[in-house]
Amino acid sequence: MELVTTGLAEAMAAAAREVDDALDRLLPAEEGDEARLFAAMRYSTIGGGKRLRGFLVLEGARQFNVSREAALRVACAVEMVHAYSLIHDDLPAMDDDDLRRGKPTCHRAFDEATAILAGDALQTQAFWVLAGEDTHPDPAVRVELVRLLARAAGARGMVAGQALDMAAETAATPLGEAQVGRLQLLKTGKLIEFPAEAGAVLGKAAPALRHALAAYGRELGAAFQIADDLLDATASAEDMGKATGKDAGAGKATLVSLLGVERARLQAERLVAQAQRHLDPFDDRADLLRQLATFVVERRT
Ligand code: IPE
Ligand code: IPE
Ligand code: MG
Ligand code: MG
Ligand code: MG
Repeated sequence: MELVTTGLAEAMAAAAREVDDALDRLLPAEEGDEARLFAAMRYSTIGGGKRLRGFLVLEGARQFNVSREAALRVACAVEMVHAYSLIHDDLPAMDDDDLRRGKPTCHRAFDEATAILAGDALQTQAFWVLAGEDTHPDPAVRVELVRLLARAAGARGMVAGQALDMAAETAATPLGEAQVGRLQLLKTGKLIEFPAEAGAVLGKAAPALRHALAAYGRELGAAFQIADDLLDATASAEDMGKATGKDAGAGKATLVSLLGVERARLQAERLVAQAQRHLDPFDDRADLLRQLATFVVERRT
């Protein structure tokens, strides 16, 4: 068990280094009159985070022998959108946080206007990367990736979830379990489902396998946000690299506030088992994805 987990940790660390190198190439160099904007984009994207979403793209793509370069471009695109979502999530108008990935949040290190613009530019840069010829020789595949990420990130995905998350803070009555589930599916689940599915899109996989990976990502995403909420309630800012203990006071709608720590943890574990079952059609090449599901709820950072 110990050895197995070590294998995953090493694989994730190696993938994170590859993603960092690729981000360095795909983001504008810190020069010229816009250097401050470019610096903020790089500050919030390169060299931090678990790279869960990028790792999902790389591992999904590996099931179908997709070229590493293509998979890395898609991994970078989703990490750019994710970084944008974090920059905006941390703004004073939203969660008002000062610490992210163990360093000052973007608006603290730069300023609010620069942080808003860096987020905007990271989002559009992601689609520029996906649409590039090096992402896939078949334009239909590139369009499909653009379509899926746009859906996952926008008004039917992450942004919708963030809107519900903010509205819940001041709602007259607390959200019920089903409403919290939907909020989390949108806020976090969609941007985890996309990378899980993307490797299959790149590999032109059979629909059944593509759907299996998407379903795996959906369950994983739900488990991931419950784990994030549990860590907010139980972990230290030092371990997490971001403030903790804020959700309850802010009136955030979470399963932890609704069910308590123990039942929320059981729910996350149930979701992990479901996620792993969706990998049944895959052979042992999907073992890292199987371990990743366990990691998502056992993580301490
Ligand atoms: C944080 O995501 C935001 C949530 C959706 C809970 P991660 O925990 O994946 O953040 P990084 O990328 O590792 O910093
Ligand atoms: C944010 O959820 C999810 C996003 C879409 C960015 P949280 O607000 O709980 O994420 P953290 O805890 O700040 O990372
Ligand atoms: Mg938030
Ligand atoms: Mg937040
Ligand atoms: Mg959180």
